[in-house]
Amino acid sequence: MAQERLYLYPVWLRLWHLINALLCLILIITGISMQLSTPSVVLVGFNTAVTIHNIAGIILTINYLLFFIGNLFTYNGKHYQIEFRGLIKRLITQVKYYTFGIFKGETPPFPITRENKFNPLQRFSYVFIMYLFVPIVFITGWALLYPITIPTTLIGTSGLHLTDLLHIIAGYIISIFMVIHIYFCTIGKSPLSNFKSMIDGYHEPH
Ligand code: HEM
Repeated sequence: MAQERLYLYPVWLRLWHLINALLCLILIITGISMQLSTPSVVLVGFNTAVTIHNIAGIILTINYLLFFIGNLFTYNGKHYQIEFRGLIKRLITQVKYYTFGIFKGETPPFPITRENKFNPLQRFSYVFIMYLFVPIVFITGWALLYPITIPTTLIGTSGLHLTDLLHIIAGYIISIFMVIHIYFCTIGKSPLSNFKSMIDGYHEPH
């Protein structure tokens, strides 16, 4: 019997995700451009890159509030609660499925349901990215926009350098996440079905 389609991605979430994905792309391109720019090699003009990066960062922070408030007041927030008991075992089961089971045509160990729309690896990585690294990136970003707020010395070193380092590390982690995230999103009923879900809100069961 064919399984029914599940409505898992409400409009506010899809809107947040679309804006967030576009902004992250803009931030990565302008961020790398600023970092690598020399007088002879310029990806985007330095001053233009700074302006675009600042504006995109401000919009990303406002957009993050949509995600945060949406998860606080709707059922979607339940998918971001981590049950620590048995977590390692669940993560290993999912890794085993991605490395072996999937190639042998086994059924997923954690089928998608209305109550459980993420597998353990998704849940874990989404929580880490959305509640740790994205906040780190925009909080340090705002601090760099208003450097007067940064203490001159922090744990024995320059506060400005430390804030900058944290900003860049979090930015690179989000960039790496994005590449892996897009790859894993191609694992669905068809390579494009998960992307379609983020447009119409419905998950296509296997
Ligand atoms: C062009 C870039 C991106 C594409 C094409 C993309 C694609 C997708 C797709 C297809 C899904 C639905 C499948 C699933 O539930 O895993 C999804 C969900 C999600 N994505 Fe992305 N994504 C992109 C960028 C990002 C970025 C930059 C972040 C975070 C910084 C992010 C965070 C998330 C989160 C948290 C979810 C789950 C949302 C929920 O259902 O509560 N994505 N993405």
